[in-house]
Amino acid sequence: NNYALIMAGGVGSRFWPVSRTEYPKQFIDFFGIGKTLIQSTYERFLKICPAENIFIVTNQIYTDIIKEQIPDIQDNQILAEPIMRNTAPCIAYGSMKITEINPEATIVVAPSDHTIADQDKFIAAIEESMAAAAKNNCLITLGIKPSRPDTGYGYIQYIDSTLATDPKIHKVKLFTEKPNLELAKSFLQSGDFLWNAGIFIWSAKSINAAFQKHLPEMYEIFQSGLPLYNTPKEIEFIGNAYQQCTNISIDFAIMEKADNVYVLPADFGWSDLGTWASIYEMAEKDYVGNAVIPSEKVMMFNSSNCMVNVPKDKLVILQGLHDYIVVESNSTLLVCPRSEEQSIKQIVADIKSKH
Ligand code: GDD
Ligand code: MG
Repeated sequence: NNYALIMAGGVGSRFWPVSRTEYPKQFIDFFGIGKTLIQSTYERFLKICPAENIFIVTNQIYTDIIKEQIPDIQDNQILAEPIMRNTAPCIAYGSMKITEINPEATIVVAPSDHTIADQDKFIAAIEESMAAAAKNNCLITLGIKPSRPDTGYGYIQYIDSTLATDPKIHKVKLFTEKPNLELAKSFLQSGDFLWNAGIFIWSAKSINAAFQKHLPEMYEIFQSGLPLYNTPKEIEFIGNAYQQCTNISIDFAIMEKADNVYVLPADFGWSDLGTWASIYEMAEKDYVGNAVIPSEKVMMFNSSNCMVNVPKDKLVILQGLHDYIVVESNSTLLVCPRSEEQSIKQIVADIKSKH
């Protein structure tokens, strides 16, 4: 009864120009390992459920990229969204479609843009959570020990009380999505908060019930399509359904509000590839701290702590450059101090509004 729902509809604008609206980060091989982020995600879930139980929700403009990158996937396993409405509609849609196939399903919902260092630990954590979710009416998330007061994450405070069937899965007292910096700092200092990894495990029944309780309009919209999922009428139905959906994330809509949220503290080398800094952190570096992907034609002299990501055939020479990001893609070159990478998102927004 195990199913996976991979969310792959985000845009990833902080990785511009490598990640673009036409080709966002989940479809990119950031580490030069011959696999894109979504391919690695799909492979991880092949170890957890049968291939036919893996579904990918994405914007309709990306369905061809997905078919190209995951040739084994069938058309019915790609859920195409007509417009971007954040993760709540994406999960409501996926859950109802899976419910139509198997009302007893247990579902793991996961982003497509993470890296996981320890695959075995990851699989063990998911399998343990799926076993618990099959037996209990609960919404389980995986919690990661925080290392900095990052305001881009959800924060989870848990208590000693656990599921009766699993002493490792704790009851969540407070779920705060994307707190301000002050709050994030106090969460970090208190020592009893975890980051929400953004990977959720629940039964189809539990998540549908949570939508019915906390987002009844959205529940009605997707529930009314129940006889149409997995039929030729699904596309038309979804086209109309999305027009009526509010734009909200699962974290704000459900996780902050529900009182049956549980967390499994996990430690499998999780990294959310949010910015170039996170790629730099994970990438292999030379002895003066330069990370170069791929390194074939890049020559560096008296340069250190740079993050270089350029096409394979590009001859690049760096002389006396320190702590910079140098990225070329799609005939666009970006040179930016590593300390100022947060401004990339705004720059992209400005460029888009002008062109
Ligand atoms: N299909 C679809 N449609 N997918 C979407 C959409 C959408 O409209 N919006 C986002 N996604 C996908 C993204 O591609 C990504 O894989 C995942 O859903 C999460 O969305 P993000 O936009 O990356 O969320 P976030 O990083 O700001 O926050 C979430 O993840 C953090 C951990 O990485 C939250 O769950 C946080 O609480 C969490 O800490
Ligand atoms: Mg993210």
